[in-house]
Order: sequence, then C-alpha cells, then structure tokens
Amino acid sequence: MNPTPPAGFRNPRAQYDFKGRTCSITGVGSYLPQRVLTNAELEKMVDTTDEWITTRTGIRERHLAAADESTSDLACQAARRALEMAGVTPEQVDLIIVATITPDMPFPATACLIQHRLGARRAAAFDLEAACSGFIYGLEIGQQFIMSRTYDTVLVIGAEKLSTITDWRDRNTCVLFGDGAGAAVLQNRPHSHGLLTVCMGADGAKAGLLSMPGGGSRCPATAESVAAGKHFLRMEGKETFKNAVQAMCTAAEESLRRCEIDIARVACIIPHQANRRIIEAVRERLGATPEQMFVNLDRCGNTSAASVAIALDEAVRCGRIRRGDLILLVVFGAGLTWGAAMIEW
Ligand code: UT7
Repeated sequence: MNPTPPAGFRNPRAQYDFKGRTCSITGVGSYLPQRVLTNAELEKMVDTTDEWITTRTGIRERHLAAADESTSDLACQAARRALEMAGVTPEQVDLIIVATITPDMPFPATACLIQHRLGARRAAAFDLEAACSGFIYGLEIGQQFIMSRTYDTVLVIGAEKLSTITDWRDRNTCVLFGDGAGAAVLQNRPHSHGLLTVCMGADGAKAGLLSMPGGGSRCPATAESVAAGKHFLRMEGKETFKNAVQAMCTAAEESLRRCEIDIARVACIIPHQANRRIIEAVRERLGATPEQMFVNLDRCGNTSAASVAIALDEAVRCGRIRRGDLILLVVFGAGLTWGAAMIEW
C-alpha cells in the first residue's frame, strides 16, 4: 500500500509510485569540537572587531578542531550519534557517503577511513565534493540508491576541518568558518514519507568566486604554491553573496513547486549557515517568517558541507522539529553548487 500524502499535498515525482518504497531519515547526529574561538579572540589575531563580524555576518563564535583531530574524527562522532538514534548497527550500513572539501588526505577517501573506524564492514564508501552543498547532494545520491532498491541503509555525512584551509591572516575570510560534522541515516521505511524531493544545481562558469587553487593537478603543492597562499580558501565575498541568495531562492522555490505546497506550510527552513544577511534575504524573498528559520551560525560559523547537517541534528534534538513536520533544507556553495531538500519528518 502506498502511503497517503499529507492533506493538501501532491508530490508529482515518483515518490508515491514506488510501491510503498520511501526514503526516510531515521537518525541524525552531529559533533562540534570542544575549542571555541570567539570574535574577541579574532580581534587579537587580525584587524577586525566583534561589532563588524556580528553585524556583517551574525557569527559570534565558531568551533575549531584540535591539531590531532581530523575530518574523519569529527565525522565518526557525528555518525555514531546518527546510527544510535536510528537504532542501526555499523554492520547494517550498506553505503557511506562523505561530503567534504577537507578530506583527511587526497586519497584514499575519508569515507573509507570512517568505514573502517565504525566497523561498517559491509558498506561501500566514497567521498563527494560539492562544497557547502555536499550534504544535499549526498542525500539525493543516497535516496537514489534506496529508491532503486540497491541499498536499504545509507549513511550520509557532511564533515569539515575548514580551519586547515583558512588563511588566519586574511580578515576577509578567517572570521567566517568553523569545524564540525553532521550525519544522517537514510532507510526505506514503508508507509512513511521522508524525503519528498531533492533539487540540485551547479554553475562551473563561476568556479572562480570561491576556491582553493592549490593542491590539485592544475597547481600541485610546491614551495612556491605554499608561499603564494594557494592552499588557502579564497572568496569574492560580494559576488558570492549575491549568487547565494539567488541560487538558494531558486532551489527552494523549485522544491515548493514540485511538492505543490505553500511556504507557509513548512514548519522549519534550515538554510546553509554562511551569513545571517543571506538567510534574511532568502527568507524575505520566499515570504517566510523569522519563526520558520533555523539559525545556528552565531555559534558555529560556516562549516561548509557540515552546515545544514549539524543544524538539522540540533533542530531535531531541541524539539524544534516534530514528527510530521515539513522541513526545507536549502544550500549553496563553491562550484558554484546549490540545492534544496523537502522532508516530511
Ligand atoms: O559557504 C559558501 C557561501 N559563502 C557565502 O555565501 C559568503 C558570502 N559573502 C559574505 O557573506 C560577505 O560578502 C562577507 C561577510 C564575506 C563580507 O561582507 P560584505 O558586506 O560583502 O563586506 P565587503 O567584502 O564588501 O567588505 C566591506 C569592508 C571592506 O573595507 P573597505 O574596502 O570598504 O574599506 C573590507 O575590507 O569591510 C572590510 N572587511 C572587514 N572589516 C573588519 C572585510 N572583512 C572584515 C573584517 N573585519 N573581518
């Protein structure tokens, strides 16, 4: 029997045509490293002020991983919490997808390191790189494997140690980013709804707006590339800002259109946590209320692929999201990439 769509809701995509097969998020988890870097501390490191950072971005503090803590360490903590909530053992996991721009090393994939550490012996594992949009890309890929009946249990992780690619002398960028990880367990749960639709987009013509030029085949690591700062993240802030608002609105509107629901019915909108002013501009354009938005960037900063994954976990655990609620995740990042996911919790 197919699940009954919620009142006033019709999903034109294949969701209800899969003979009862659905993709639900059955567990979420997140992890923030212990060390907190405040705006006051940043005032002592670069020419900035708490006032500038707070008014221009909304960020007050961010978490930084310890020197001996890598992306996979953060990811394992978040993954264990998500598996525990889902009541799933590591042996039951069929696939691990890790979205990150700060892998432990170029290869092997961080997902493989995590697979071993969790003891998920049966799982296939790979990394995906869609920058800050990576978690939504991961949800869509995981959902496809579940809906096609290839796998029953997929672990999607967004994890970053951005502090390693941050130029701590550049006030334009170093005040923005933080470290952390978030995870979700995707499973087929007959007669429930779960992921209703996921949209993804990209525009490589604007790749130069936000990038780390060094360390790949175009510009391998050399003494010169290190001296030139090519292994640090670079961003054209203003242009990135404009593109973020535009792309996040487009993705959110596409999700609403596909699901044929009004923004007022969405209980919680979880946007990529890059800048409070971006979130506010997106909210206004979508016609949402401040109460609908979930924001944690004041405490976390921008954690790229981990951003909405951490926020989703926090929103669930603090009771902001309840069973049956419609949730809209909206992301934007380097690539450019963007996306949105409508979820019935
Ligand atoms: O995760 C991927 C997506 N990321 C984003 O979407 C981020 C998008 N961009 C932004 O959030 C904003 O553009 C920033 C927060 C990065 C910058 O804010 P802005 O309002 O666009 O500032 P701006 O870059 O135009 O800089 C304004 C002024 C400049 O001074 P002058 O040239 O006007 O004298 C900057 O040098 O603010 C200066 N400034 C700072 N001042 C104090 C830049 N960074 C700082 C700082 N402290 N940390």
